[in-house]
Amino acid sequence: MHDVIDSTNRRALDLADDGVPDGFVVIADRQTAGRGRRGRTWESNSGDSLLMSLVVRSTRAATRWEWLPLASAVAVARVLGDLPGVSLKWPNDVLARGHKISGILVERRTSGDVRAPAVVGIGLNVNQKRFPDDLATSATSIRMETGVISDRTDLALTLLAEFRDVLSDWKAGAESIPRAYRDLLGGLGSPADVRPFDGSDTVHGVIEGVDAGGRLVLRTGDGLRTFAAGEITLRSR
Ligand code: BTN
Repeated sequence: MHDVIDSTNRRALDLADDGVPDGFVVIADRQTAGRGRRGRTWESNSGDSLLMSLVVRSTRAATRWEWLPLASAVAVARVLGDLPGVSLKWPNDVLARGHKISGILVERRTSGDVRAPAVVGIGLNVNQKRFPDDLATSATSIRMETGVISDRTDLALTLLAEFRDVLSDWKAGAESIPRAYRDLLGGLGSPADVRPFDGSDTVHGVIEGVDAGGRLVLRTGDGLRTFAAGEITLRSR
């Protein structure tokens, strides 16, 4: 546990390169350069968030690496299962009543080699009372949902136990992971805009689900379209 670090993901990736085993965890109270998806930053104050990175290794042929971000979101959502309206936003945001409560960043320095480790970085909003203006309408925390201040060490232990179970199924290529993911996915059958990260035009359609590769499937006027990476915005009907 670090009081302060630049990024738990950066540290965990370095340690993974040095050979730490599967399941090794880096936790910090505060980050000075927390990383978010798509090059964004992840900000949090001391005492507010659970900031954790987990080293993941698997050389099993059945392991579907493209499902690691989605499986990780399932693990976080299960731990938050008692909160009202927990759902997933593709690929791996965890929402409570439509507001983001946890973000996950999976990083792997080499993807071609099955022996290459990955790092699953989890930022979970725990004890925030409010968020800065730019996040005020989109983010929430466990405290804002329940009124209760949580012990982050207890939460970390619960989360790690859930990850152990979920990632054991994920490594085995178990069908239970895609099934659990689809059950938690929000917006199924709803109209949505998808902005692909390859710079192409925003696509309008209805969310159909995810395919076997963890890609988003959208029903459009021109038929089904799949997306490997992009940002969904749900539209009101
Ligand atoms: C997102 O953009 O939604 C993903 C955010 C992931 C943030 C977590 S906080 C712990 C870990 N260390 C980092 O630098 N990032 C991840």
